Amino acid sequence: MALKTSKDGTDLVATPQHWWKEAVIYQIYPRSFKDSNADGIGDLRGIISKLDYLQLLGVDVLWLSPIFASPNTDNGYDISDYQAIMTEFGSMADFDELLAEAHGRGLKVILDLVVNHSSDEHRWFEEARKSTQNPYRDYYIWRDEPNNWQSFFSGSAWELSAETEQYYLHLFAKKQPDLNWESPALRQEIYTMMHFWLGKGVDGFRMDVIPFLSKDPLFPDYPPGRFGDLIIHANGPRIHEFLQEMNHQVLAHYDCLTVGEGFGVAAHQANLYVGHNRQELNMIYHFDHAVPREEACFGQPAPEFTLPELKTIFARWDAAVGHSGWQNIYFGNHDNPRVLSRFGGSGSHRVAAAKMLATVLLTQRGTPSIYQGDELGMTNCGFENVGEFDDIQVKNAYKVLVMSGSVREVDFLKAANQIARDHARTPMQWSALAHAGFTDGHQTWLKVNPNHATLNAEDQLSDPDSVFNYYRQLLQIRRKTPALIYGTYQDLLPQHPQVWAYVRQYEGRSVWVFCNFAETEIAVDLLVDNPKVIFGNKAGTDVKNNKLILSPFEAQIFGQ
Ligand code: NOJ
Repeated sequence: MALKTSKDGTDLVATPQHWWKEAVIYQIYPRSFKDSNADGIGDLRGIISKLDYLQLLGVDVLWLSPIFASPNTDNGYDISDYQAIMTEFGSMADFDELLAEAHGRGLKVILDLVVNHSSDEHRWFEEARKSTQNPYRDYYIWRDEPNNWQSFFSGSAWELSAETEQYYLHLFAKKQPDLNWESPALRQEIYTMMHFWLGKGVDGFRMDVIPFLSKDPLFPDYPPGRFGDLIIHANGPRIHEFLQEMNHQVLAHYDCLTVGEGFGVAAHQANLYVGHNRQELNMIYHFDHAVPREEACFGQPAPEFTLPELKTIFARWDAAVGHSGWQNIYFGNHDNPRVLSRFGGSGSHRVAAAKMLATVLLTQRGTPSIYQGDELGMTNCGFENVGEFDDIQVKNAYKVLVMSGSVREVDFLKAANQIARDHARTPMQWSALAHAGFTDGHQTWLKVNPNHATLNAEDQLSDPDSVFNYYRQLLQIRRKTPALIYGTYQDLLPQHPQVWAYVRQYEGRSVWVFCNFAETEIAVDLLVDNPKVIFGNKAGTDVKNNKLILSPFEAQIFGQ
């Protein structure tokens, strides 16, 4: 049991230690990671072929975005069989081999648990839609009349099912009907399925839109103008009962990692999910700093956060769960454009900025997730026309906004080039070869970013100053620096417009982090006596009269 350290160095309250707090997660989007059979789609054997790379990087846990049977309306987030592998990705034997090979290298594997909805091609839904008397009917949510809820992928959240002339709920695509967690039989099916995977040896789950499982039984209309206000769908009346039941019946039987996608959870509600004594989830990740992507944003994207706003979000969440619960820290995932294109300036300092962002990601309090390719400093990909996008969200928004004439095509394209999820989904850039070495085939399911000629893993592995090698070294430093894992977090310059500076303290040891988020040099008070440089993205720190001069996108970590 570790002790929490107060600002003056005294130990206050016991903080439980767990392997999952010390771990670093690496998210794999299997479709885009590595193709082994030349069909242009990533697969499980492709992942196996890159396990040495991931071991070298030094991450601990691999989160695989959905690998299950799916018609791929939403690239695997529409599951038609929770206990079968997607045909394009391989077979169960491939999965078993992947798990064994990962474990053999000391890497854990967590799967994506997508149980707010299934695919409409799931056997349960195919049965349920047949008649109101079907035994599977109440696995889904049916109404005689729709309310005014909108789908996150445009249009009404209700679809008429011709067989019974009732509407079913789908908060996402029409082909993703919402499961009815009020049904005890449905819940037992899900728990049995979770035991199946955990029994095979998987090490936990990332849980898709988990705060949405419990719906308001009255299905009230939105108040006018509230579309996009996620609070409406999240944190329903029985959510904590369901999660405690899931924990009791499944999770508590394994030493596993659970990370909930905390869509719609506000910081003050987070401990209900992750508080140490709640017996629900280990950690969640929030959306407060995510890129807004609701339909209207494709007409005119929301302005980007200022640095003080961003810092306020991180401080708020740390204050809410840093000690009494736990959170998952991320900048990139498969639902956000590339972080480097958001916060990395014009691109003229790409390498420094990628390393600076890695520094923040890996030194906050919480379990970090690295999104595939961010360890190389991958960037957004210029999409030249709407046809180049794959994502259902882009396609549906296009139909509603552009085809109806309310947004000009040129404006839509500009917005999509800022906010679309496809930026994170372009194939991994393994080399400068054709298709970035992602496939030996003749095509890829989504365009490859042309910058792979100069931005790829092969070049970076042999360059000691590469973004990849910076991540690798920083991961090693994090592992052996308890203050970076369990230490308290204090923002030192919350209002500073260009520098993010904070201190982490643990058992009398302090670590200071200074990051310059701009393309201009800046001097700040060093705030540390006799600092010892631990690590940074620039050799040699520049200190004059107790001022630290930070060059563009410089990051420095100090200890004493
Ligand atoms: C959240 C996932 O992260 C996203 O990719 C997906 O589209 C929705 N949930 C629906 O499953």
